[in-house]
Amino acid sequence: MTRWVSLHMISLGSLLFFAAAGWGSTCLSEDKLNKRVERFERTYWSNLSSYQKLEGAQTCVEAAAEMRGAMNRRSLSPWKYNISRNDSRFPHEIAFAKCLCNGCIINGREDTSYNSVPVVVKLVVLRKTPCPWDKTKFVVKNDSEAIAVGCTCVVPKSSN
Ligand SMILES: *[C@@H]1O[C@H](CO)[C@@H](O)[C@H](O)[C@H]1NC(C)=O
Ligand SMILES: *[C@@H]1O[C@H](CO)[C@@H](O)[C@H](O)[C@H]1NC(C)=O
Ligand SMILES: *[C@@H]1O[C@H](CO)[C@@H](O)[C@H](O)[C@H]1NC(C)=O
Ligand SMILES: *[C@@H]1O[C@H](CO)[C@@H](O)[C@H](O)[C@H]1NC(C)=O
Repeated sequence: MTRWVSLHMISLGSLLFFAAAGWGSTCLSEDKLNKRVERFERTYWSNLSSYQKLEGAQTCVEAAAEMRGAMNRRSLSPWKYNISRNDSRFPHEIAFAKCLCNGCIINGREDTSYNSVPVVVKLVVLRKTPCPWDKTKFVVKNDSEAIAVGCTCVVPKSSN
């Protein structure tokens, strides 16, 4: 009994050690990494909308005067896009929404009795880290990131 417990604890200890050292996670060559990333991006990040996203109003006043074009520009809670970049994350570039107004555009002007708020979702990403024992290879992990995908117009929380 005692022996079983100690053996068990030794194997648990080495498991933790190997996990901490990155053992057990597969190290991928650059070629394998690229294939994995390509498959991943095709499945989860196929281009639903293209990248003319960065044009358009940059302020609430501009948005109120415009109110035409893509959905983010016609919304009563208009938003612009900014790009988040990270080379150790796939996709490297993710467009995220920034609300242009505190209030909402009602009858052509900002009405602060309403609020523009971001709609945030968790999206799957891959992250690469160097392989612990072979610096030419990479460990790739699934992860998620909270991304604002647009803005919506709401009645403020405090009002009844
Ligand atoms: C979007 O994807 C299609 C095929 O899936 C491709 O032909 C097109 O060039 C892509 N557009 C952009 C802007 O990446
Ligand atoms: C875009 O986002 C980056 C990182 O969050 C930030 O540093 C930068 O100021 C933003 N640019 C604009 C135009 O909002
Ligand atoms: C990229 O992401 C990693 C992991 O989340 C983070 O440690 C690193 O600081 C990021 N790099 C940049 C340039 O934001
Ligand atoms: C990562 O996610 C993909 C797709 O959801 C799945 O096929 C794969 O087994 C996952 N890998 C790990 C290490 O969780």
